Amino acid sequence: MKILILNGPNLNRLGKREPDIYGSATMEECLATLRTDFPNVELEYAQSNHEGELIDIMQQASDGDMAGIVLNAGAYTHTSVALLDCIRSLSIPVVEVHLSNVHAREDFRHKSLISSACKGIVAGFGMNSYRLAVEALVRLAAAK
Ligand code: DQA
Repeated sequence: MKILILNGPNLNRLGKREPDIYGSATMEECLATLRTDFPNVELEYAQSNHEGELIDIMQQASDGDMAGIVLNAGAYTHTSVALLDCIRSLSIPVVEVHLSNVHAREDFRHKSLISSACKGIVAGFGMNSYRLAVEALVRLAAAK
């Protein structure tokens, strides 16, 4: 099975971006670990700082052969009706992921505009948030 891991704005800077909050590991390191841990899953990765591009990528993933999407929409989580509408329109499950526990941070991060359209949410476990989300999608597919 194929799963897309999709990161939104500023997540290309993982490793050097506010390491006290997001850790010092890079996304490349995270992906290498995930690919070892899930040898039977084809993990594709994409990142964009642009809202519309994230939408294009998700639409293409859903119209193709992807089983699900692990989405860290970054700050667009808290602002984007366009991402919400996109996720609602997809035929594959999306798991919302955050490295940090957004509910333990500033008030404006407590509200997610996309959660209601997602299958589930994982937040607060650093890079392990991605691992837990991939596992959830694998189990979801196996239960079908
Ligand atoms: C984040 C949390 C968001 O509030 C923030 O804007 C990010 C990263 C996280 O992974 O913890 O860019 O999605």
